[in-house]
Amino acid sequence: MNLGIPRRIPIPGEAFAPLRALRGAAPWPVKPVRGLFQNLAEGLAAAARFASPGDCVKSGRAGRSRAAIGDLIDVTAIPASIDDMLALLAGADYVADRSLATVLFLSLKMGRPLFLEGEAGVGKTEIAKVLAASLGRELIRLQCYEGLDIASAVYEWNYASQMMAIRLAEASGQTDRERLEHDVFSERYLVKRALLRALEPAPGGPPVLLIDELDRTDEAFEAFLLEVLSDFQVTIPELGTIRAASPPIVILTSNRTREIHDALKRRCLYHWIDYPDATRELAILRAKAPRTPQRLSAEIVAFVQRLRKEDLFKQPGVAETLDWAAALTELDAVALDPEHVSDTLGVLLKYQDDIARMQSGVAHAILEDVKAQMRLASHA
Ligand SMILES: Nc1ncnc2c1ncn2[C@@H]1O[C@H](COP(=O)(O)OP(=O)(O)OP(=O)(O)O)[C@@H](O)[C@H]1O
Ligand SMILES: [Mg+2]
Repeated sequence: MNLGIPRRIPIPGEAFAPLRALRGAAPWPVKPVRGLFQNLAEGLAAAARFASPGDCVKSGRAGRSRAAIGDLIDVTAIPASIDDMLALLAGADYVADRSLATVLFLSLKMGRPLFLEGEAGVGKTEIAKVLAASLGRELIRLQCYEGLDIASAVYEWNYASQMMAIRLAEASGQTDRERLEHDVFSERYLVKRALLRALEPAPGGPPVLLIDELDRTDEAFEAFLLEVLSDFQVTIPELGTIRAASPPIVILTSNRTREIHDALKRRCLYHWIDYPDATRELAILRAKAPRTPQRLSAEIVAFVQRLRKEDLFKQPGVAETLDWAAALTELDAVALDPEHVSDTLGVLLKYQDDIARMQSGVAHAILEDVKAQMRLASHA
């Protein structure tokens, strides 16, 4: 994978193979990174994956300073093309289509937040987790809910500790009010929540900030978020403005229980994640549930795809497909049969009306269709 290592990184000494981080050769902690690499770029890509800002990467006489390694990770860990992005996601068992990989690639390249909408269980939250894990970034998650406020999302003062500090100061005879005020409104007494933490520098590069299920918050919070996402800064009256030196990678998700305001959408790139088609759903199943017998996987996917065409109160997402595969595998099924389907409908459908409708013969008819489709495919 070409991770786009820029030549301008001035690592002295082209002979980077084998690349080594020499334990004990530097006065700061060094992680060993050993291996034979074809070229400088490949070696650096490997170093970037393992090293963090406290590390020193050395090759022969070449060495790098601590900060530079942090910069290196920052620069190199971003995929250099849409194909690299697809490969990065696939490496973490996320099966994306090209349009999703493109918008993700652009979001990273342009430093713009990515707003993902889609039905429940189609892999919106998973994207942020996969990105953080495969780019070696910290994942900071802000789970939205009605009534979410700045104290829970950004910061609050630790009043108990502040009170204690004031009492202790009084007891020790300290009378300088201004100094006391300055002391208790310092970072030491600040409880940092997700949004503030996401603005701080982190080892390995800016974190991935997941603002999950934004549609659950109210509009006042959305308006506040608008400010944070525009400037990547937060103002704390007692402390001043805190600005991210490098903006975090921001992923926002929504299940579209309400429309998100245009002003916020305008700050983001947008992508609608649909239910996967049969080929992609089968690939997801292979990646995420490799224990499921092949024939069973194919039948599960065909059944679920067909089920989504029914008039249901809540259609099954990919999460339900995976759960169903796990359940049927536990039951030692190797293919779908009417009994298994009927007994496990509660894994796929979560509303009694939907289940009752399926049990009234619809599930059986779908199963017949699926079996016929499989027979046809095997003769083709
Ligand atoms: N394209 C995909 N590749 C691999 N796994 C996927 C994919 N899409 C969904 N999944 C899996 O489906 C499950 C549900 O995904 P996730 O929780 O991200 O859905 P969601 O869209 O955030 O759902 P909700 O709206 O309910 O929060 C996870 O286990 C995830 O790994
Ligand atoms: Mg989710």
